[in-house]
Amino acid sequence: MTQQGTPLLRPVRLGGLRLPNRVVMAPVTRCRATNADLVPTDLHAAYYGQRATAGLIVAEGAWVSERAIGYPHVPGLYGERQVAAWSRVTGLVHALGGRIVAQLWHTGANSHPDHLGGALPAGPSAIDPGELSPTAAGYKETVTPREMSVADIERTIEEYAAAAANARRAGFDGVEIAANGTYLIAQFLNPRLNRRTDAYGTSRDRLLLEIVDAVTAVWGSCVGVRLSPYWNARDRPGPREGYPYAADDRTLAEYDAVVAALDERPVAYLHLRGPADVDFDAIARYRKLFGGPLIANNGFSRSTGAAVVEAGLADAVSFARLFIANPDLVSRFAFGHAPAVSDRGTHYSGGARGYVDYPISSG
Ligand SMILES: Cc1cc2nc3c(=O)[nH]c(=O)nc-3n(C[C@H](O)[C@H](O)[C@H](O)COP(=O)(O)O)c2cc1C
Repeated sequence: MTQQGTPLLRPVRLGGLRLPNRVVMAPVTRCRATNADLVPTDLHAAYYGQRATAGLIVAEGAWVSERAIGYPHVPGLYGERQVAAWSRVTGLVHALGGRIVAQLWHTGANSHPDHLGGALPAGPSAIDPGELSPTAAGYKETVTPREMSVADIERTIEEYAAAAANARRAGFDGVEIAANGTYLIAQFLNPRLNRRTDAYGTSRDRLLLEIVDAVTAVWGSCVGVRLSPYWNARDRPGPREGYPYAADDRTLAEYDAVVAALDERPVAYLHLRGPADVDFDAIARYRKLFGGPLIANNGFSRSTGAAVVEAGLADAVSFARLFIANPDLVSRFAFGHAPAVSDRGTHYSGGARGYVDYPISSG
């Protein structure tokens, strides 16, 4: 495939975001903010700068508040020092010609008291999600969380809005709301974890939609939303019986309704983490429900990524592990150079090693 014939290399518009190509860097938590203030460092800037040729960088999940924390060494977006530090990152990415959005993250019941000064994590209902929380002392089993009060929920929505405003001051080009995985918003969307009888339980998508509206008030048409309707036990370390996130007809129908509600809002894009094995039919399901731009993710390669765009099923494709190992992924795709494979041992630790030392292709 020649450079010109590669659909991934064609420009595209995602709401208010204009991308020179459709090769998106998916958000990847790398746990390199090894400092007390949870600020990104110049190492983060170097890492994102190396990847500035991506059509769009979705930066690693960043905490919307101290209450959102659920991993060690992940940067926040709730304090002034964090805003100043992120400005150095976005400034460099822009100087190098790139675009970067922040991903807003809250772990909810998937956190652990170790992250919260001993306090219980809070979630939709007092149901232990049965996940693992990575702590400074290794993975720990989650606990039964405290059920969030309506006041807790309103405060959380305000925190999302404040973090979105911080992202603006920090020079990002937009924000992505992480409603995927096993974290707060996905917990509210989940019928097995959200047993509330108030408006946030009878309409399980209410929290997400109120967050989307609050963040859109700050950012207009530069807000993306990430969903993972097919999240399953394969995404979790260790064996699982009765996994609460297992997709079935009911949960998929509920996600259809969520996507239809998002379609009525001016979201910049839907970032769909699809099934673990690339499945065009699964992506087509959301293409029919959502009229706006769609970014497909999970397990894509240059050829399957090109095919899903060529088929008109996605506007762009995001790559996580490939962007970890290939800072020059766009030019590798353009010239058909084989991509390197990431070292899992340094995904979540290692400092500069396995972070900014992946070479560019020599052909
Ligand atoms: C090391 C690592 C960290 C990740 N961190 C995040 C994250 O912060 N936010 C998020 O939404 N997804 C995160 N993901 C999921 C990826 O964005 C992506 O959905 C997944 O890796 C599948 O895409 P791929 O096949 O291109 O790697 C992470 C994945 C990996 C491997």
